[in-house]
Amino acid sequence: MIDLNQITKQLVAPKKGILAADESLKTMTKRLSSIGVESTLENRSMWRQIMVETEGIENYISGIILYDETLRNPLSNGKMIADILKEKGILVGIKTDEGTYKFNNHEETFTLGLDNLEKKYEEYKKMGAVFAKWRAVYKVGDDLPSKEARVANAIGLTQYALITQRAGLVPIVEPEVLVLEGDHDIETSEEATEEVLEDVFKWLERFNVDFSGMLLKPNMVLAGKESKNQPTIEEIAQKTVKVLKKTVPEEVPGIVFLSGGLSPDEATEYLKKMNEMYKNDLPWQLSYSYGRALQQEGLKAWSGKPENISQAQKVFIERCKKVSEARG
Ligand code: G3H
Repeated sequence: MIDLNQITKQLVAPKKGILAADESLKTMTKRLSSIGVESTLENRSMWRQIMVETEGIENYISGIILYDETLRNPLSNGKMIADILKEKGILVGIKTDEGTYKFNNHEETFTLGLDNLEKKYEEYKKMGAVFAKWRAVYKVGDDLPSKEARVANAIGLTQYALITQRAGLVPIVEPEVLVLEGDHDIETSEEATEEVLEDVFKWLERFNVDFSGMLLKPNMVLAGKESKNQPTIEEIAQKTVKVLKKTVPEEVPGIVFLSGGLSPDEATEYLKKMNEMYKNDLPWQLSYSYGRALQQEGLKAWSGKPENISQAQKVFIERCKKVSEARG
């Protein structure tokens, strides 16, 4: 019998967190084009290989979320990525959602990917995956997120979580409110995030998802980028933890934030502040599952050039260390 709680504890072990390297083909193409690199399978795999082969990565990274093609194809050295991670004691995760479907005049989305999910897990487990991730996305705006978006996505996340746990993998439930997009203040983000999380946990509970065998991957509570009223770091920490305390059951072992467009320094500082202010009063671990905030600097240092690999790994591991230290 697979002990899901044990896996969650390993993922949020002290000083460790998750690296999200699960960019879809479209997103990875965008990331590579930002450094002038063509999006071929070889280049996409190479960047992921550079990260996993970084010496000491296992000191800061407990698990890595991968995209299907990275788990399925050998790297340039002929090895499978899951084997490298296993040797380093890093857990293998897989992104299982298949993007979003637009509704409400194209203003909002719900997430696709439930078809054949059970079957897909049979294969992913054979390839080494022990945890999974599913992302739902919500916009902030006048009357957004709508009740329809909240219910549709809460039910989608719940079905995914249920199917994932039955298959013997830990689900990371990711309801991402796009709090940085727009000119709203932090209170608007607070309200939207609270409403979203309330609905998510209501449905998870109704379907008897085992809270002790899952992780939550939320956004932090922030003002929109264009807002004139930018909060202090203390306010961000205070409001984020307040919302989580109101909505997340104590049985959930950990909260692993997404970085959502924050700079590497911002994502590091905000997590650090939350742990400084609240760590000893919280039932769950506050950790990370960052994509861009962990990768951005290393990716830029690499810029697709073989002669830059060791510098890229140096920059990447430095960021991993800083984020690990933000766990307190
Ligand atoms: O789904 C989102 C990723 O797993 C996290 O990416 O930290 O760049 O927002 P991010």
